[in-house]
Amino acid sequence: MKLEGKKALITGGNSGIGFATARLFIHEGAEVAITGRDQKTLDAAVAELGPKAAAYRADVTDSNARTDLFSKIGQRFGSLDIVFANAGIGGATPVGSTDEAVFENIIRVNLTSVFFTVQAALPLLNDGSSIILNGSVIGSLGNPGRSAYAASKAGVRGMARSLAYELSPRNIRVNVVAPGATRTPIWRRGSTSSEKADELTAQWAAAIPLGRLGEPDDIAKAVLFLASDDSSYIQSVELFVDGGIVGSPIGGAAFR
Ligand SMILES: NC(=O)c1ccc[n+]([C@@H]2O[C@H](COP(=O)([O-])OP(=O)(O)OC[C@H]3O[C@@H](n4cnc5c(N)ncnc54)[C@H](OP(=O)(O)O)[C@@H]3O)[C@@H](O)[C@H]2O)c1
Repeated sequence: MKLEGKKALITGGNSGIGFATARLFIHEGAEVAITGRDQKTLDAAVAELGPKAAAYRADVTDSNARTDLFSKIGQRFGSLDIVFANAGIGGATPVGSTDEAVFENIIRVNLTSVFFTVQAALPLLNDGSSIILNGSVIGSLGNPGRSAYAASKAGVRGMARSLAYELSPRNIRVNVVAPGATRTPIWRRGSTSSEKADELTAQWAAAIPLGRLGEPDDIAKAVLFLASDDSSYIQSVELFVDGGIVGSPIGGAAFR
């Protein structure tokens, strides 16, 4: 087992990539704290994950909730070895018709809150810990109508590099996992209709060299690698888990 005796926090662990990662971490011997806003999916997640999981309702943008969260994690876990700052949202911000509040909310959830989650975790983090931030291929590729999301994920990459400088003296590693299009509930949240989501995922599949969307487990396996000692000399990288779309952007079936 790769994470025997380790204690991990996964924000947004009640859905999609975060939930798949919590399941894999527990399978590999870790105890895992998961967070989210939706009590129903938190309860369902912890029921499925079993006694090595603890769920806490906490909005990543709320500093009081954060203080309360880390106090509870301290009481239950004592310390942490792994933080996967995964919680995030999508959202359209087309140039020409976007309200400032919508733009700023995406930056606040996907970027600012990642920094303050790491900052709040520091007193509990053991030396030699691993921090993984969830980025996205959109931080490199861009995407029409997604300026705020793209900026937030490019920001995560830049932030990881600064954090790695600051935390290397404690042998704490900070890396980014950058998923490509991955089959999770994020595609169907907000105002996106089911038909539109199906259309978008089909377009992505045709553009991805390996010809399919990622599954949450594809990303979880990469996060496990970055969390475990298997990556003990890997610091400050952005690991794309994307079927090749960043490395070979015209490699998909749509271009053959
Ligand atoms: N799926 C993809 O194609 C893809 C591609 C690249 C990157 N990513 C990134 O992967 C991460 C996980 O997304 P996913 O695809 O697994 O989608 P998801 O199933 O929608 O999960 C998003 C998670 O974030 C949590 N969350 C959102 N806002 C929050 C807030 N303010 N406070 C606390 N928790 C919050 C949600 O919890 P609640 O529901 O309880 O609010 C949920 O657990 C995100 O950072 C996303 O940008 C996804």
